[in-house]
Amino acid sequence: MPETAATESAEQRAPKIATGDRAILPEGARTIPIYVMGKKYDVPETLTIMKAMEFAGFKFIRGAGCRGGICGACPTVYRKAGDYKLHFGLACQTVVEPNMYLTQIPFYPANRTSYDIEEIEPTAESIHALYPELFRCVACNNCTKACPMDVEVLDYISALKQGDIEEAARLSFDCIQCGLCASRCMGELPQYHIAQLARRLYGKYVAPRAEHLRKRVEDIESGKYDNILKQLLEMDKAELERRYGEREREPDLAPPGEWKPKEIQYL
Ligand code: SF4
Ligand code: SF4
Ligand code: FES
Repeated sequence: MPETAATESAEQRAPKIATGDRAILPEGARTIPIYVMGKKYDVPETLTIMKAMEFAGFKFIRGAGCRGGICGACPTVYRKAGDYKLHFGLACQTVVEPNMYLTQIPFYPANRTSYDIEEIEPTAESIHALYPELFRCVACNNCTKACPMDVEVLDYISALKQGDIEEAARLSFDCIQCGLCASRCMGELPQYHIAQLARRLYGKYVAPRAEHLRKRVEDIESGKYDNILKQLLEMDKAELERRYGEREREPDLAPPGEWKPKEIQYL
């Protein structure tokens, strides 16, 4: 029987848009040339590098994780035709440009020292002993220029040299451990591992304790949630889905600290 408008599903009637490896190009959609590891592909101009590569037939087994600019799995290096500069970005966030020459660097080896955070002190000496290569930094600033998160990498390295753990933790807060800074470092530093050590030391020993978190841990340890957790574990999947769908959610734009749920017995 021929398909009519009445028998078409909503999905079939929906406008076709380019979405990664399942892309069906709308009529007249513009494609642009990009070069992946030297080979030319024509891809829809609206896609991110990751979706464009999938459109071109690549399948991501490594080098993709969150697809939301958070996990650091998809660092990408590219040049543009006629531009001497190297550019850096995340494949899941950066939109393709005509005549972009790119490759992905899903992993870049960098020295990571082992330590037991319970055993070390939050001092400059601890950091310098674990990562003496800090002092190989020549302040070239290549790391900062390579960072897709606009982290001031050289500044946090300088803070670490001076032993300022709080400043290094603050400056490196947006680091997603992509490794691009290490790939460009003349001193062969593992910047992001050293910054992670600083944030761990800061979180464990320096930052003020959160009162509400201390209280919540006490509540958990006192057994306040044991019953409800037991009930949840015994529910079937359909009931769990129903409860999840009906849960109270804080509105996205609620002013901080003002929203309260109607159900307060577990607060
Ligand atoms: S600081 Fe280094 S590892 Fe962290 S996001 Fe920037 S380039 Fe990536
Ligand atoms: S790339 Fe390396 S040597 Fe250059 S400023 Fe950054 S940490 Fe220092
Ligand atoms: S896939 Fe996680 S940052 Fe790109």
